[in-house]
Amino acid sequence: MKILGTGSAIPTKVVTNQMLSEFLDTSEEWIVPRTGIHSRHVISSENLEDFGVKAALNALEMSGLGVEDIDYFICSNVVNEYVTPSMSCIIASKIGLTCPCVDINCACPGFIYALDIAESRYLAGKSKNILIVCVEEPTRMCSWEDRSTCVLFGDGAGAVVLGEGDNIKGIELHSQPDPNKIWETRTLEPTPYITKEEHSTPMQMRGREVFKFAVNASTRDVESLLSTIGMKKEEVGYYMVHQANKRIIDAIKQYLGESDEKFPTNIEDHGNSSSASCPILLDECNRRGLFKKGDILVFSAFGAGLLSGVAVLEW
Ligand code: COA
Repeated sequence: MKILGTGSAIPTKVVTNQMLSEFLDTSEEWIVPRTGIHSRHVISSENLEDFGVKAALNALEMSGLGVEDIDYFICSNVVNEYVTPSMSCIIASKIGLTCPCVDINCACPGFIYALDIAESRYLAGKSKNILIVCVEEPTRMCSWEDRSTCVLFGDGAGAVVLGEGDNIKGIELHSQPDPNKIWETRTLEPTPYITKEEHSTPMQMRGREVFKFAVNASTRDVESLLSTIGMKKEEVGYYMVHQANKRIIDAIKQYLGESDEKFPTNIEDHGNSSSASCPILLDECNRRGLFKKGDILVFSAFGAGLLSGVAVLEW
């Protein structure tokens, strides 16, 4: 497939490190050197689905396609206020899409998992034009009394419209199942028969272990896919790495032996917006004219599961 349009939307509320230090035992001096994050966009009065709608409409407008041209819609999302219907159906109802809708929850690498589903459907002859929207509010998953998690995240949505083309050069997905590295639980409605003890727990994370997983997985995934498709690192124009932590991105850069200019970032004022991170970065870079036709973009993302994925795309 080929990316025909990109879009994104983020909340207006900006929360700086200074604002966090007013109610948390944290500081700019701790957060910036360890994460690279200066501020993040946080949902306040808005509904998450409206960011998905805006990102989708922006991507559709750029693509030149109308909603009637889209024949499959994939929404990547970890949490939202609806258990049912799916987020894709909620967004579809607001933009007038009537094609099949599916939600995936693949945590931070959700965009790459969605690209894989899209490309597989296209190659199977089942779809021609596919909309992907990654829409996330990880700030609603953390305890805002837990300084080790809430400082890391920001909310928002990123979208792409894919159409006919052979610009996706390869995708590789990996899993290393371990539910005890990043997790959050919620209790369901009680029934007269439930006898087990249940608890709701805000997001918990083994930060150092996740850090190591992220660096190792990304480096391995990128090298493996480039080797499979016979591409050299010198041919890569940009690495679009999941914006989880600037130190993670720097370590990946160092292990790959690549230069700063190849790694655009927006973590400084977004934080980690889960699966929306890669498509928001893509849209921002695209709209400021960073890419030229023929550039090779390598997307790499990793997160809860533990899951990771990499995709190589020619612009
Ligand atoms: N402000 C001030 N101090 C903080 C803090 C904060 N926001 N968060 C944690 N600390 C403290 C800890 O309480 C700990 O204090 P102690 O030594 O008195 O117990 C100390 O800083 C060191 O904590 P540690 O967790 O070892 O720090 P770290 O250097 O590993 O950095 C992360 C923590 C979360 C920034 C880092 O582990 C990380 O980025 N991991 C990956 C997270 C991630 O990207 N997850 C999503 C992947 S998709």
